[in-house]
Amino acid sequence: MGGFFITFEGPEGSGKSSQAKWLAQALRRRGHQVVFVRDPGSTVLGQRLRRVLLHTRRVRISPLAEALLFIAGRIQLVEEHVRPALRRGCVVICDRFHDSTMAYQGYGGGLDIAWLNQLGRRAIGGVMPRLTILLDVPTRVGFSRIRSPRDRMEQKARAFHHAVRQGFLKLARREPKRFIVLDATEPKSVLQQQVLTLVLRKLTHH
Ligand code: TMP
Repeated sequence: MGGFFITFEGPEGSGKSSQAKWLAQALRRRGHQVVFVRDPGSTVLGQRLRRVLLHTRRVRISPLAEALLFIAGRIQLVEEHVRPALRRGCVVICDRFHDSTMAYQGYGGGLDIAWLNQLGRRAIGGVMPRLTILLDVPTRVGFSRIRSPRDRMEQKARAFHHAVRQGFLKLARREPKRFIVLDATEPKSVLQQQVLTLVLRKLTHH
């Protein structure tokens, strides 16, 4: 496939969504064809699943059911947007992706890591990012930034979110070629420049 697939990942309050959107605009200004999507979301199914997974209080969802719902949303996202855009040669920027399932439902929720990794990758036909920007932030700092009311995931215990953060860092150590880890406690504008510089470098060498 001719395009270039970039994902942003990070714990709650890392600022990844705002960085991802800013990057999309910055690349468009430089003449790149950019498709920006978020996971879960960006398809009708994804939006509905997002509502069930994040904005319901009374629905009980087991960790495995939760993982499969996130994965189902991602299958739709890949088929509707990611794969076609990559085929057209676009830069695809996605706010969260497979690594979030690994960090949240795997490391946070306690599902078997190797099994979940295999399942999650097979489900999306191996459409994986070439570059993943992990905005790392200590749990306490991240939570000081998020607004209330908190959604279903944000309401989980601090220990869960700590495991999520450590999970992301483990994933990054396992695939150092794909991941770039940035310190998300840095000022927004500093991070924007770091992200843009490294993405432009990757785009010219690919
Ligand atoms: P956000 O994209 O606004 O950060 O919200 C997505 C929430 O869903 C966030 O709490 C992380 C969580 N999530 C998972 O638990 N598993 C997943 O696979 C994905 C994509 C997100």
